[in-house]
Amino acid sequence: MPTLKQLLANNREWARQTLEKDPTFFEKLSAQQSPEYLWIGCSDSRVPANQITGLMPGEVFVHRNIANMVIHTDLNLLSVLQYAVDVLKVEHVMVVGHYGCGGVRAAAEKKPFGIIDNWLRHIQDVETAHLPELDLLQDESRIDRLCELNVMSQAKNLQRTSVLQDAWRRGQKVEIHAWIYSLKDGHLSALQDAIAGP
Ligand code: CO
Repeated sequence: MPTLKQLLANNREWARQTLEKDPTFFEKLSAQQSPEYLWIGCSDSRVPANQITGLMPGEVFVHRNIANMVIHTDLNLLSVLQYAVDVLKVEHVMVVGHYGCGGVRAAAEKKPFGIIDNWLRHIQDVETAHLPELDLLQDESRIDRLCELNVMSQAKNLQRTSVLQDAWRRGQKVEIHAWIYSLKDGHLSALQDAIAGP
């Protein structure tokens, strides 16, 4: 495990190498950001948006929470979404889950963890809505299918937000994508076609 001192030293080295490749990199980025993507992903440390998509600082606006949830009363997410759609005019919003998600697993196992139980409650609603399908599966494949269903359900929640409904009503082009990441091979895959309207 690197020490904090090492992290700061790594940072200086990264800044030096970045400048070496592009001497105006920080100058350009400090003036403005114009990302085309909003990433709504899981907080899991193994799923870093920029690294797994090969995007540079400035190229993706990111919101992460436990189990990549889109909850209609979450002002944090709604504020990020509104800023990304209305001001930054991102053209793609991706909800990105991952197989083996600890949040999804905790929701499925229904063990009490404290305040987070209220957050995970929403995943249990997804589970309840798909019980006949899920109950045909066992162990990891059941959890993994619930991870997929959760992503698609959150994409649907996103489609219903006032932010996206308003954007489409005024003719703005913005698409929602439901993606899933495999920790085992590092691959991102689309779970369904893009949602491009109300
Ligand atoms: Co997760």
